[in-house]
Amino acid sequence: PGGAQAASHGHPPVVVGHRGAAAYAPENTLASIDTARRLGIAWVENDVQRTKDGKLVVLHDTSLARTTDVKKVFPHRSSWNVGAFTLREIEKLDAGSWFGAKFKGERVPTLQRYLKEVDHNGQRLLMELKNPELYPGVERQALRELDHDGWLDRRHIKHRLIVQSFNADALKKVHRLAPAITTGYLGSPPVADLPKYAKFCDQINPPHTAVTQRYVNAVHALQGPHHYRLDLFTWTVDDGPSTAKYAGLGVDGIISNKPDVVRDTLDDS
Ligand code: G3P
Ligand code: CA
Repeated sequence: PGGAQAASHGHPPVVVGHRGAAAYAPENTLASIDTARRLGIAWVENDVQRTKDGKLVVLHDTSLARTTDVKKVFPHRSSWNVGAFTLREIEKLDAGSWFGAKFKGERVPTLQRYLKEVDHNGQRLLMELKNPELYPGVERQALRELDHDGWLDRRHIKHRLIVQSFNADALKKVHRLAPAITTGYLGSPPVADLPKYAKFCDQINPPHTAVTQRYVNAVHALQGPHHYRLDLFTWTVDDGPSTAKYAGLGVDGIISNKPDVVRDTLDDS
């Protein structure tokens, strides 16, 4: 796939592996992005949150309970939230067994370790700041980590990194702190409100249930902060007929738990 901003009318949508390749491997683990790589998927999506001692980790839920063995390892804690545990504690947890025995021993990765793996795999990253309102300063911290690993290098930035969030204030901060970054707003604001988002977002990324031809056209009619027309990436689309439908509506990206299914459908069309 081309760079996010290179997507345009007439080009097939960019395929993004949701939480890695969440249908095939435990979400947001290194195994998940490695699975996406083996499937030939260039773009992966993740979710970033913060530990009690201020370290950024890759995890979707605010709670560790669904995707780790935290209840078994720390049976007497009053909260399972990631923000109630130190990184040392979180590193003791198994984040793979819940998905399948062969993934036993997978960990909740730090953002730093995760970035290295994506980089090593030659992949591209759609990074979600998840619940940033819970973690004051997370925007600046995430940017520091990205910068440390070279992700903000201006020569490559727009071809390999998008930062997205459901929280518009977080995206405004990201845009202010690092204006070169491509940003995506998660959600489906009313058409009349879209111009406000175009001031700090390059993408509007709605759930597929909100995607209509009118909505795609309204997004495409606007120009973002980098003077490209706004893109629309939709989620989560996991089957061939839906892929064909949304590709037909002209979406620029499809975020999928089964990115190989989406890719193969697009290749066949
Ligand atoms: O990338 C879009 C999608 O990840 C947003 O929803 O809940 O899976 O983070 P969620
Ligand atoms: Ca996400």
